[in-house]
Amino acid sequence: MITEESVREVIDSARVEDVVGDFVNLRRRGNNYSGLCPFHNEKTPSFNVNPARNIYKCFGCGVGGDPVKFLMELEQLSFPDAIRWIARKYNIKLEETEVSEEVRAELQERDSLLIANDFARKYYAEQLLDTDEGKSIALSYFRARGFRKEAIETFGLGYAPNQRDGLLQAATAAGFGEDQLEKLGLVRNGRDFFRDRVMFTIHNLAGKPIAFAGRILKKDVKAPKYINSPETEVYHKSDVLYGMYQARQAVRKLDNIFMVEGYTDVISLYQSGIRNVVATSGTSLTAGQAKLVKRFTENVTLLYDGDKAGVKAALRGVDVLLSADLNVRVVVLPEGKDPDGYMQEVGVTVFEQYLTDARKDFLFFKADILLEEAGDDVAARSAAIRDISSTLALVTDPLKRAGYLQQFSAKLGIDESLLVGLVNGAIADHRSERKKAAEREQRRQARSSGGTSAPPPPTSEDDWGGLSEPAWLDTSSDDPGPVAAGGAPPPVAGSPAAEPRQPEIGHGHQEQHFVHLLVRDGHKWYDEPTKTTIAGFLTANVADLLGDFDVATYREAVEQVTDHLRSTGGAPDPDWYTRHADERIRQLATEAVTSPYTYSPNWQEKYGLRLSQKMPDENQRLAAELFLRIFRMEKIERKGKENTLLIARYQREGNFEKLKTHMKVQMKLDEMRISLAKELGTVVLSR
Ligand code: CTP
Ligand code: MN
Repeated sequence: MITEESVREVIDSARVEDVVGDFVNLRRRGNNYSGLCPFHNEKTPSFNVNPARNIYKCFGCGVGGDPVKFLMELEQLSFPDAIRWIARKYNIKLEETEVSEEVRAELQERDSLLIANDFARKYYAEQLLDTDEGKSIALSYFRARGFRKEAIETFGLGYAPNQRDGLLQAATAAGFGEDQLEKLGLVRNGRDFFRDRVMFTIHNLAGKPIAFAGRILKKDVKAPKYINSPETEVYHKSDVLYGMYQARQAVRKLDNIFMVEGYTDVISLYQSGIRNVVATSGTSLTAGQAKLVKRFTENVTLLYDGDKAGVKAALRGVDVLLSADLNVRVVVLPEGKDPDGYMQEVGVTVFEQYLTDARKDFLFFKADILLEEAGDDVAARSAAIRDISSTLALVTDPLKRAGYLQQFSAKLGIDESLLVGLVNGAIADHRSERKKAAEREQRRQARSSGGTSAPPPPTSEDDWGGLSEPAWLDTSSDDPGPVAAGGAPPPVAGSPAAEPRQPEIGHGHQEQHFVHLLVRDGHKWYDEPTKTTIAGFLTANVADLLGDFDVATYREAVEQVTDHLRSTGGAPDPDWYTRHADERIRQLATEAVTSPYTYSPNWQEKYGLRLSQKMPDENQRLAAELFLRIFRMEKIERKGKENTLLIARYQREGNFEKLKTHMKVQMKLDEMRISLAKELGTVVLSR
């Protein structure tokens, strides 16, 4: 038992920002800190740390408490273990009364399993370092591979001798139950699971052993090279990355993580000074692992073996990283080398230079490989382009995506608008996949909760205000767009987001014109060589703004045309509109063919353009482009105005969290506006 004085001393010393900071990448926000919540999946930080009150609080999922509670919940520690963890961190010597039988009974199952695992780690270490057999067989093996004493300790390396039940005997003598060892996968049918192998310990983020891997020593081809602990109560493979405990501080500091395949690669790089490195352990990446990485950094560099399998591994599972909005780069090592081997061969200076020189953005890496494979085969090439578009669709940051689109259209030699269309198609596909998955999940939950679903309880607002944002600003939304879910967010009673759109700045007229353009000219070519129609061009480029349409009918018309394009591959001709089952669409069609083109009256003045009221046929493409750009500009300007109002309000209220978010949004909108303005300039000049 830890004495009361000791507990008090620990609690008094624990600083919430220090403790949380060991797990979450925190950024200073005035007197507080914020970061990505480790308890739920999110893309923008809603997890806050308040040093003055020594508490943390997440406005996304509602968790909150003091440093001890944080450790207990995140690392699933018992109270005494959380106290021990903090004591170690601050070098506080704990006064403990004798650990008795009764205390052991008090410990939770989980804790006792972790303790048993730690016993096993010590046992394997002793076998390695303190026995003649270990020294001559295993330690010499590690030495030959260049692993030094420090790394052997840091990574908990060990040796499992070729004995039937050495660990079982030692552990039961020390008071551990055979059932515990079985639960941990250390013992099976009265025999040690790991025998005649060098051992690697897998730690959790608190540095406790949760699993083991054993590597064969003999060059025996029949047995597997590695055997690993099974999935247990304390080891959930899909949420673990090998080496994360040792790497986490360097990862946070350098804001980048290297992912390799093998245990030995991690150790080799670590002891050469590249400490921000973890291993996927030869399997494909999971969403849980991506989430783990995201707690520490957004920048991932995959470092894979220079062979076909390594490249395949790099391609596999990367979608998982992109979906988590991580920036992914890839380094492929020279033919036939793995990171460990290459490091041992050339040393850290050359190795690091290679990393710098060979580092490629993942999307370009993927494109190069697919295009090279496809060669001149037209079908393979178009499959490759589709595949690339599908990956591009996972990039949720609109600016990042716009940059990629531009570069890829140049690289692939295809029109950017065509690529935009493909990407939007892929986004719609991903979205419907996600929707289906969410529906499945909902049905599953409804079943398990007996069909009653209560709304989540409101979160307390504490010191941080806690105002919610309008939906379109919610950059944490799981739906990357651009095809917005449709319409303004539903009003929420009592929430500031319930403010209706200002009717006086409505865009109805422009939206109407947009639809008229679709009806009249949509079926004509925008770019014949790439089989892009005006409708294809217009719909693809407005998809991200559909949610900002003021008039639902116009928005729905655009959606219908988009669906038609996607399902048939062609644009609807005027007949399709005039015979449409939906009466409102028929109505639109009539309007479109009977009324003259009328641009919004103030555009001429505002953009200094001489717009012809009738569109001469030869100018169709230019006119569509020009119209679209102005249309987008107007929408973006309006967003900007709305955002400015919010900024002013949060400034008044002193809500610096919200203020920061909205300043960021403003910067993005400004960037979009500036680039549009540039494009507008070009079009005007070229007329
Ligand atoms: N692996 C595994 N089981 C196997 C083979 C591999 O779990 N039978 C996992 C291990 O995590 C291993 C990783 O895949 O570290 C990469 O495999 P490999 O490159 O073959 O092993 P290395 O780690 O490079 O080991 P060594 O250098 O000792 O050959
Ligand atoms: Mn290797």
